[in-house]
Amino acid sequence: MVPTMGALHQGHASLFEVAHQLADVVVATIFVNPLQFNNSSDFKKYPLQLDRDVQLLEEHGVHYLYAPTVDTMYGSDFSTSVHIEGITDLLEGASRPGHFSGVATVVTKLFSAGRPDIAVFGQKDFQQFAVIQRMVSDLDMPIRLIMAPTIRERDGLAMSSRNVRLSTAARQQALAISQGLLAAQAQFASGIRESQQLIEAVESVISLTSAEIDYVKLVDAKTLQDTTSASEGSVIVVAVILDGIRLIDNHILV
Ligand code: PAF
Repeated sequence: MVPTMGALHQGHASLFEVAHQLADVVVATIFVNPLQFNNSSDFKKYPLQLDRDVQLLEEHGVHYLYAPTVDTMYGSDFSTSVHIEGITDLLEGASRPGHFSGVATVVTKLFSAGRPDIAVFGQKDFQQFAVIQRMVSDLDMPIRLIMAPTIRERDGLAMSSRNVRLSTAARQQALAISQGLLAAQAQFASGIRESQQLIEAVESVISLTSAEIDYVKLVDAKTLQDTTSASEGSVIVVAVILDGIRLIDNHILV
């Protein structure tokens, strides 16, 4: 199963490719989940393009699509929320209260509906993956989770359904995110381990633009807690707001 919110792009296509390598039958889900938007205007602005999405699914040999309506997913008396403690309070969770409960609730429902053996998610939403991993482990869900690498535009910008909302100028400035991450990786490769120095490498590139930095952090890949000293596998996570649009990215240090 590859759960998505639609507005599919090459990043999703790579998730379908990964799914095909692991499974005989690939199911995509498309559902723009109102529970995970803490800002209703963000929900309303989310791009909807089901016809184009279906075409992309066909091109990538996806066998089934599950695209329920909001009423099917959440009846008027729907009263359950899946909440994961701790890991959801940080980073995206701190800036978007309730977001991860919305994600966990809908992913639980999608897993119940499809009963997948394997579910594939993208690395771009690194915290989302960690949260779902925690949930699957805690609730003994018999599902193997796969994190597929982030797919980037040629110039380095991580693919996201939100990118289409960026003005030309903001789109250009957004490159600072991946450039900052590369600068930090270069410092790590040259032997720097002090997290503050790596964080500053990212921030100094982004601060040349008009992007507002929400956070740049160096965290442990499992707990997402800050680490003071980097090692291979530590993750630099970034969130910025550019032209009112929230963009996230991350890099696993190698
Ligand atoms: O990553 C997404 O597209 C969504 O958060 C998900 C996992 C489909 C849940 O709505």
